[in-house]
Amino acid sequence: MKLLIFGATSAIAHETARCFAMQGAELLLIARNTEKLAANAADLKVYGAKSVDTLSADLNDLDSHLSLIEESIRRLGGLDAVLIAHGTLGEQKRSEADVQDMLREFTTNGLSYMTLLTHLANYFEQQRRGTICVISSVAGDRGRGSNYVYGSAKGAVTLFAGGVRSRLAKVGVNVVTIKPGFVDTPMTANLKKNLLYADPKSVGKRIHAAMLKGEDIVYAPFFWMFIMMIIRNIPERIFKKTKI
Ligand SMILES: NC(=O)c1ccc[n+]([C@@H]2O[C@H](COP(=O)([O-])OP(=O)(O)OC[C@H]3O[C@@H](n4cnc5c(N)ncnc54)[C@H](OP(=O)(O)O)[C@@H]3O)[C@@H](O)[C@H]2O)c1
Repeated sequence: MKLLIFGATSAIAHETARCFAMQGAELLLIARNTEKLAANAADLKVYGAKSVDTLSADLNDLDSHLSLIEESIRRLGGLDAVLIAHGTLGEQKRSEADVQDMLREFTTNGLSYMTLLTHLANYFEQQRRGTICVISSVAGDRGRGSNYVYGSAKGAVTLFAGGVRSRLAKVGVNVVTIKPGFVDTPMTANLKKNLLYADPKSVGKRIHAAMLKGEDIVYAPFFWMFIMMIIRNIPERIFKKTKI
């Protein structure tokens, strides 16, 4: 398996990568921080990866995406699967006050996924096999006053990936959308934890299984499907008065 991972130093992505490493996968890891990339690559070799290569890139540079993908495919000697996992939680209040901050957060969590998906969809459509997996979020299921910049970017990713899935289903390519709930990772390090928090290892394992099976939409852990069903169905006139 030749697997390319965007945001590979994410705690969730790294746990997913470990599962693939144990199966002897060939991995190419992309993120910004070169030291973390090197440490993760060493760890994945210990876990059994056949090979691990790294590329450092800021994925907010949308114009670099095509050459980044082409270079990755050249280094891997092909491509079987991709995991898109990078993200930032940002600060809603800062994005409300500063349009540039809002645009940067929306680019990281939304637009950058769409440009990557556009290039990758064309590649996999020609290849007529493979798997693309994106990590969206339960936050994308409904606009909330406390988190709508991140949430709307993730909602856009969910819709966009759904469209790519329908397009590529005709040529046998799987597009998997993962919607995690709260996960205990560096992204949520500053948030107060509660019983709903999952550990990145269990979410990573779930993503690995979903990619192998070519599932469509996966809530991780599964109970978020029920939580979000309730949240989506609260009438707007009531929902807008909540602090959720
Ligand atoms: N944790 C949660 O509760 C939760 C819930 C729902 C969904 N998710 C989603 O799950 C995914 C993984 O989250 P996580 O919690 O595992 O995150 P994490 O551990 O905080 O890691 C985030 C990753 O994103 C990368 N990244 C951020 N901005 C980037 C940029 N401009 N260019 C390149 N790489 C960039 C970081 O790389 P560098 O360190 O190199 O910058 C890092 O690898 C994200 O899409 C997140 O939105 C997380």
